[in-house]
Amino acid sequence: MGIHFGVDYYPEHWPRERWETDARLMKEMGVQVVRMAEFSWFKMEPAEGEFDFEWLEDAVALLDSYGIKSVLGTPTAAPPAWIIQKNPEIQPIDREGRRRHFGGRHHDCQSNAVYRAHISRFVTAYAKRFADNPGVIGWQIDNELGNSHGDLCMCDSCKRQFQAWLHKKYGTIEALNDAWGTAFWSQGYNHFEQIGTPLLTAVGENPSAMLDWKCFCSDLIVDFAAHQARILREICPNHFITHNFMCFDNKVNYYELAGLLDFVSNDIYPAGHWQKQPHQPDSELAACHDVIRGYKKKPFWMMEQQSGMAGWEIMGRALEPGQMSAWAMQSVAHGADAVVFFRWRTCAMGTEQYWHGILGHSGNPGRTYHEAKRLTETFAKYMEDFEGSMPRPEVAIVHSFRQNYAFDIQPNHPQLGYVEQLQKYYKALYDKKIPVDFVQGMDDLSQYQLVIAPLQYLMTPELEQHYMDYVEGGGNLVLTMRTGVKDATNLCMTDRELPGRLGDLCGIEVPEYDCLLETTGGVLYGKKEYTIEKWCDMITLKGAQQIAEYSTGFYKQTPAVTENKYGNGTAWYIGTEPGEELMEDIMTYITSTCGIETLGTAADGVEMMTRESDEKLWLFVINHTGDEQVYHLHGMYTLLEGEREEFLQPYEVQLFEGYRRRK
Ligand code: GAL
Ligand code: ZN
Repeated sequence: MGIHFGVDYYPEHWPRERWETDARLMKEMGVQVVRMAEFSWFKMEPAEGEFDFEWLEDAVALLDSYGIKSVLGTPTAAPPAWIIQKNPEIQPIDREGRRRHFGGRHHDCQSNAVYRAHISRFVTAYAKRFADNPGVIGWQIDNELGNSHGDLCMCDSCKRQFQAWLHKKYGTIEALNDAWGTAFWSQGYNHFEQIGTPLLTAVGENPSAMLDWKCFCSDLIVDFAAHQARILREICPNHFITHNFMCFDNKVNYYELAGLLDFVSNDIYPAGHWQKQPHQPDSELAACHDVIRGYKKKPFWMMEQQSGMAGWEIMGRALEPGQMSAWAMQSVAHGADAVVFFRWRTCAMGTEQYWHGILGHSGNPGRTYHEAKRLTETFAKYMEDFEGSMPRPEVAIVHSFRQNYAFDIQPNHPQLGYVEQLQKYYKALYDKKIPVDFVQGMDDLSQYQLVIAPLQYLMTPELEQHYMDYVEGGGNLVLTMRTGVKDATNLCMTDRELPGRLGDLCGIEVPEYDCLLETTGGVLYGKKEYTIEKWCDMITLKGAQQIAEYSTGFYKQTPAVTENKYGNGTAWYIGTEPGEELMEDIMTYITSTCGIETLGTAADGVEMMTRESDEKLWLFVINHTGDEQVYHLHGMYTLLEGEREEFLQPYEVQLFEGYRRRK
């Protein structure tokens, strides 16, 4: 029996006498795994070299006696006070040059050699102690790497490592000066030792330097994790290693981090108080799961699935009956092989007193506990079959950390966000019940009928060629505004009009553009006028056909969206950000032209998603709304779970079985 449901557990926060009750209640709820100890360094090493792992061994053994396995976290996101007292230099420096201090978490510099030595000592002892423990199955390295590291760290150690990283990348200072365009504002360097971390300047910053800095920070975090992975792999060859990612968070390149891991895990909190709406829309959550699956092209774990109202100082909305289950099964539908709920019991102390779990402060099983129990009772039997199966979409959206960095540095328009832009394209497909993969531009695209590559801002000759080959060979590609603008080091392209060589692919040129700073614009498509946002590329046709034209601006009646046959395929160019309605209609046109299958029809808020093994296909229909809904499926399926076909109760999850139809 594999492992499919679990909770994040902090036995050290509760009296020992309670542990057995916890274990029993967990077992009755269907819990098969806990994650523990990812913030418990002080409990395990109260003074340098004095280890106390007994309490954790006891907890692992007790849980194991109830058939519950343990994943252990390395607590390196929270070095204890005695380390900080001895080595205050490991605390990070922010952009204003201030040291950030002990008292929260993530108060560590990830390049610091002294801190690495503390980690080596601790993780080695920890791993040795649990290597042969029958209750332990795997490790989580650190916790949410990149979280809280937004503007950290700018210390001298990080500076030296950045200089070395640049030296290795560019070889000579002349090459760096060229790549960064330091002729501007007298920014030339004589040697690498002059280059600092990006402390706050008087005004402005060099976009090329900032791009390298962000890539360096990502490499540093990957290296920080690799250091621990090496220790764990050597001492615990039978345990898996994972890490809890944060959806689209971009401090570390997750494709690269995933390379160190056996599988990727994710954390998701759809209903935090920081969300613009009571909770994050289901389409955005679906996209998060799809990108997580894409980081390693494999099923994943949910290491923290929200189970209660979330908040530190301020709280979000309470979860409605069934909502947690709908979110959990959404994770599964998109490729989660295991769902671990955060957290078992709402904590009575510390920053996260109001981040609610399966049990409330009182520890009595209530509404959430019983919902979780029903969920495992209903779906545990299928989870075994799902394991290893994958969604197999016909459509891919291109995702890139470097493009994301470039838009963080220069958003072009104040509201333009790289991930938000991907989410807009994603939503149009999601609402049509068309499954999507996220891929990197240079991946093999040939398995996809349609590839959507928004904002291909930084361009390389290799990527240009790759896209041209894909379309030439029969692929269908959507490119958008702000494509081919910059080279790999974030300097503007100067050889040709935009979008560079991809202009041949799209049959267009973009000699001018307009930023819709404080206004929206209009487009005529068919006979209808639609709203567009943020940007207008002024397009000259060089063989392409116009699909839609601007209806506003001095460039009105010129092309806004174009279509071009190239080789055996088609390239579309969308020179603006379509408003929701135009997005929907253009995507209907493009997906139907490409013959993309839709799983069914239903209102927004009703999700359809499939996972497939070699023989079987499972279809999930999920109602993310608090209302009854109806739906219709395109295809023959057998209902495995659910009350009534074509009808959904609020937050109901239905499961169907089918056979692979794919060509
Ligand atoms: C996550 C984190 C957990 C916990 C939770 C609630 O981001 O991994 O350790 O802090 O949020 O705040
Ligand atoms: Zn540092």
